[in-house]
Amino acid sequence: MSENRVVIFDTTLRDGEQSPGASMTRDEKLRIARSLEKMRVDVIEAGFAMASLGDFESVKAIAETIRESTICSLSRALDKDIDRAAEALKPASRGRIHTFIATSPIHMKYKLQMEPEQVIEQAVHAVKRARNLVEDVEFSCEDAGRSELDFLCRIIEKAIDAGARTINIPDTVGYALPHQFGETIRQLIERIPNSDKAIFSVHCHNDLGLAVANSLAAVVNGARQVECTINGLGERAGNASLEEIVMAIRTRSDCLQVDTAIDTRQIVPASRLVSGITGFPVQPNKAIVGINAFAHEAGIHQDGVLKHRETYEIMKAEDVGWNANRMVLGKHSGRNAFKSRLQELNITIADDEALNKAFMQFKALADKKHEIYDEDLQALVTDARNQD
Ligand code: KIV
Ligand code: ZN
Repeated sequence: MSENRVVIFDTTLRDGEQSPGASMTRDEKLRIARSLEKMRVDVIEAGFAMASLGDFESVKAIAETIRESTICSLSRALDKDIDRAAEALKPASRGRIHTFIATSPIHMKYKLQMEPEQVIEQAVHAVKRARNLVEDVEFSCEDAGRSELDFLCRIIEKAIDAGARTINIPDTVGYALPHQFGETIRQLIERIPNSDKAIFSVHCHNDLGLAVANSLAAVVNGARQVECTINGLGERAGNASLEEIVMAIRTRSDCLQVDTAIDTRQIVPASRLVSGITGFPVQPNKAIVGINAFAHEAGIHQDGVLKHRETYEIMKAEDVGWNANRMVLGKHSGRNAFKSRLQELNITIADDEALNKAFMQFKALADKKHEIYDEDLQALVTDARNQD
């Protein structure tokens, strides 16, 4: 794989499902997995096989069905979790075990109640056990965003020696800031002597709204896998959103100098599918997949876009799976957009005077309604003709 390629690891079916109220059935997960495969997602984290019988069955069914993406199951650094994950992944054409243990002082002391040396020992044991069962093992330092750099260097070096080929640095509680998180990734890659044997990955949560910014800062500093979810679904405030990561990489390849394998035209269909299945609506102004992401209402913007799309568009709506951009007629709209919509609707206006009159009536109506629909325009022009 080229060193400029960023692996897209989607965890909608695992971390995404950890959003309170977002549980999915096995069949729903299969439908989402198919749409991720169609999008050419590299790795699909299908679930946490040990979490429940339902999750085990889902991981297994996805491993049986999906052929083009690597299928991954999460597991704690415990023998029983690792064995269960391997069992669920048996039918996969490419299976990955993702094992994790917490590395921050607060998690080790209060949650694990273990000494740092014991944590290293357990991590090494887990990675070795997983490597005896599958080729592809990912190791995560949970709460790495609040872990000490020296400790991360020690545990990661040992995890790579034990056979992990992807090292994931999660900002589990969304605490990091972009410049600082980027620097952590740079230092880890620079200081760990065997870092060239693994791909460094990041997994950022959105508690401060910085998940995408932190992930991109990590990419700039050498991370080559990003863990993300459709619509940014995930525990608490969610995870880095796949559509934002992928489109930032594509739109700003001039600056980031990396790419992904994603078929971006599948983004909107996948977003709609996930929203429909989970019942989590997408906010209208959500980047890329919100209904307003490619809509223009202001007259100045509409006029600019009608003259040249790139005046107010940095991406094409069609490239992410929308049919087209949208000109929304409302009280901020201008004469140019009004006239252009009448032409699209094959409504002919006799002359400039008639156009002015219809435009004034349109503005009066727009002061009373949020959005003017095609039917409103038809009615407005018919009324104007009847009055003549
Ligand atoms: O947020 C997190 O730390 C996780 C790990 C299990 C990767 O989801
Ligand atoms: Zn997470």
